[in-house]
Amino acid sequence: MWISQLDLVGWRNHERSSLNFEQGVNVLIGPNGQGKTNVVEAVRYLAHLSSHRVSGSASLIGDDAAQATIYGTFAHGTRDVSVGITLKRNGTNEATVSGNPAKLSEVPRWVSAVMFAPEDSSLVRGEPGFRRQFLDDLVVAMSPAMAGTYADFEKVLRQRNSLLKSLRNAPRSADTSTLEVWNSSFIALGAEIIHHRIDSWKKVAPFVSDAYQNLAAGQAITAEYESKGFGLEDEATRTEIEDAFAAAVQDVSRTERERGLTLVGPQRDDIELLIDNRPGRTHASQGETWSLALSLRLGVAAWLRQERPSGDPIIILDDVFAELDTQRRSRLVSVISDYEQLLVTSAVEEDLPEGLHGKSFDVTRGQVVAR
Ligand SMILES: Nc1ncnc2c1ncn2[C@@H]1O[C@H](COP(=O)(O)OP(=O)(O)OP(=O)(O)O)[C@@H](O)[C@H]1O
Ligand SMILES: [Mg+2]
Repeated sequence: MWISQLDLVGWRNHERSSLNFEQGVNVLIGPNGQGKTNVVEAVRYLAHLSSHRVSGSASLIGDDAAQATIYGTFAHGTRDVSVGITLKRNGTNEATVSGNPAKLSEVPRWVSAVMFAPEDSSLVRGEPGFRRQFLDDLVVAMSPAMAGTYADFEKVLRQRNSLLKSLRNAPRSADTSTLEVWNSSFIALGAEIIHHRIDSWKKVAPFVSDAYQNLAAGQAITAEYESKGFGLEDEATRTEIEDAFAAAVQDVSRTERERGLTLVGPQRDDIELLIDNRPGRTHASQGETWSLALSLRLGVAAWLRQERPSGDPIIILDDVFAELDTQRRSRLVSVISDYEQLLVTSAVEEDLPEGLHGKSFDVTRGQVVAR
């Protein structure tokens, strides 16, 4: 798949930008802070309904705008599909597919993108939240309907937390029937998410492993899903996950009431990445960190390419070349250069490796001009 047209209105520092992309390589050039990442972040948003930089949508809406709109036209073989999303400061966000009103969660069905960004080293070295986001993006790419499950889960988690907070100082005898009602959806939705995360990772792991072998010959990587508060067998079924999760919720119920906070669930889980059996988070060298971070993205891209009927994902390279040594640059380019479309950003053209030249756009103060 590839994106032929992107229109941004009130998106970050882009009051109104319109870009005609080509199949193959597209390059956004401009000094720091001009709005290059903002452009590719919008494409990523259509694919994942989230930003790689912030949670929530407040900062995505232009400072002087009441709402932010992204329109994109995507070529799927011979078929073009246009999608749009409007994020509102006040009121409900809206989406369209082929001009018709649609649920927000319908949009990622038509858009697949894999983004490489400087922040990716956090996948290996950073807080568990980065790895959860990686898995959740993967889950939604594999099963778009899960976007709805995530939204429901977040709602239930918020309600459950505020209920626990209000019960915190309540007498022991306080009525907890509302909490029990929330618990059943919390457990069902949470187990669904954990199940999908484990399942998605299983599918993509061989591709990640291959990519890593290719970048850093010889070393083996493995990964284990860690559910906070309970253990899971390797081949745990959906029902076994739900039972274990329900038991863990039961186990912490007293502490949760004392602390007024949810203490177990997918919102606290992690995936432990091991390089030669050592945890990457604490043991990986700088080079290993980058090789593994790139491999995680490359593995997802390779999986999507093979499995999604809509063809290749759009490959986004946001400012990554400055981070890589010559050998990794050329290995990365050799693997991704035959994808249908690449969107590349760079502050200076000189940082772009050979073979990554195509249609160029200058980005200045939120304005985009094609060369
Ligand atoms: N909601 C917003 N409204 C207006 N401007 C915003 C908003 N969010 C971010 N910006 C501005 O956008 C600019 C950053 O844009 P972006 O991250 O795309 O830069 P960039 O061109 O990728 O720069 P770099 O080369 O440093 O990565 C900053 O000046 C920031 O203040
Ligand atoms: Mg940037």
